[in-house]
Amino acid sequence: MTFVAPCAIGAEKVLANELKQLGFAPTGSAVGRVSFTRSPAEGEKVGAAAPTAEDLAAAFRANLWLRTADRVYAQLAAFPARDFDALFEGSRGVRWEDWFSRDTRIVVDKVRVRASALSSEHSIQGVTHKAIYERLGEAWRMKTLPETGATATVRVYMEKDVATVLLDLSGMPLHRRGYRTAGGEAPIRETLAAVLLQLAQWRRKTPLHDAFCGSGTIPIEAALYAHNVAPGLGRTFALSDFAPFKTAAALASMREARLAAASEIRTDCLVRITGSDIDEKVLVSARANAERACAIAGKALQEIGSDARIPRPDFAPASYADLEAPYDTGLLLSNPPWGERLEDAAAALELYRGMGSLLAAFPGWEFGFITSHEGFEGAFGSKAAKRRPLKSGNLDTVFYQYKETK
Ligand SMILES: C[S@@+](CC[C@H](N)C(=O)[O-])C[C@H]1O[C@@H](n2cnc3c(N)ncnc32)[C@H](O)[C@@H]1O
Repeated sequence: MTFVAPCAIGAEKVLANELKQLGFAPTGSAVGRVSFTRSPAEGEKVGAAAPTAEDLAAAFRANLWLRTADRVYAQLAAFPARDFDALFEGSRGVRWEDWFSRDTRIVVDKVRVRASALSSEHSIQGVTHKAIYERLGEAWRMKTLPETGATATVRVYMEKDVATVLLDLSGMPLHRRGYRTAGGEAPIRETLAAVLLQLAQWRRKTPLHDAFCGSGTIPIEAALYAHNVAPGLGRTFALSDFAPFKTAAALASMREARLAAASEIRTDCLVRITGSDIDEKVLVSARANAERACAIAGKALQEIGSDARIPRPDFAPASYADLEAPYDTGLLLSNPPWGERLEDAAAALELYRGMGSLLAAFPGWEFGFITSHEGFEGAFGSKAAKRRPLKSGNLDTVFYQYKETK
C-alpha cells in the first residue's frame, strides 16, 4: 500500500529522510508531500487491493512516529480522469466498504487541482462523494446512509488529469501532539519546529536554547526528539475508526507498537535544553505544555512498568539582550516575533537590529532563526550561511542559519 504524507513546503527532503530513518521507503515527492511504502522491499502498489496486516501496522507506526509530517493518508486509488464520468467510476471502484462502517460520515476535503481538464473543486468534491455514497449504498443495500458515526475524510488531488484518492488516517493534524493546550501569541507548529531541528542537524548531546521560546514548542520538540519519545503517544488517530483497524489482530498490533515506542524512550541521556522569553506570562504556558509532554512520556513508561521520567526543559524570563551562553557550544534556535500586523512589523525590524549582539554573547554557538519578516537578514546585519524558505499552512517563512563565529 502506498501512503502519502503532506508536510511544510520546502521540508520534503527532511520528511523523506525521516521516513528512511524509520524504515519506510519514500517512493516520490511533490510540492509539500512525500509518498512512501512500508519498506524498501515493498514495491509501489496503486490500486484497490485490501490492506495487509503489515500495511495497517505501518500506517499506525507512521502516525505514531513521524515528527515532520502534517498527516498520513492511505492512497486508495490513482487513475486518469479527464471528465466527471471517469472520476465517478474511479472513485466508485475503491472498496470503501472494506474501510467504513454503515454509519461513517463521509467528508470529501478541499480538492487540490493542477493542470487538469476538471477544474471545479466543488464539483470534484461532489462527484467523489456521490460515487462513494453510491458504492456503499449498493454494497450494504441501503438507499440512504445515516452518516451519524465517526468522520472519514477523503482527499482528492487532481494533477495533470490524474485523480489520486486518499483517505486521511490521522484525523487531527499531526502537529496536534496532545501536549499543547496553552498557546503563546504566535506559536510555531510542532511539525515545523521538528523540521528546524533536522535542518539544523541538532543532536541530543548539543545544548539547545530558544531565546524567544513563547509557549515552548521548540524546546519541547527538541526534548521529545532527544529522548526518542514518539510524538504521537499522547493522541489517537482517525484510523482507529476504520474497519480494518478494529480487528483483534490490528488492535493488538497497535498496542504492541505503543509499548515498543515506550520501551524506546531514552531516559539515560544528558540533555541540556532551555528556553527564555521576555514575557513571564507565556512561560507559564511553556512550563505547563512541557509538563504535559513529559507526563505523556511518563505515562507510556508506566505502561511498560517503568517509573522513569524524562526531564522537562527549563524556562526562564529574560530579554535576549541579557543572555549569556551557558556552554561553550550549542544551538540557539528561535522564532523571534515576526510582526504579522503592520504596526508590529517595524518593531520586529528594530528587534532584529539588536539581535546581532547574540552572535557575540554566544561565541562558538550555531544559530537558527525562522521568521516570515522579509527584512530579517538585513536588519540582523549578518549574511546567513544557509537560508531555506519553508511554507507551513499559509505562512511563508525563511529559516536562516548562522554558523559559529568564534
Ligand atoms: C513568535 S513568538 C515565539 C513563539 C514560540 N516559538 C511558540 O511556539 O510559542 C515570539 C516571542 O518572542 C518574545 N519576545 C519579544 N521580544 C523579546 C525580547 N526582547 N526578548 C525575548 N523574548 C522576546 C515574545 O514574548 C514572544 O513570546
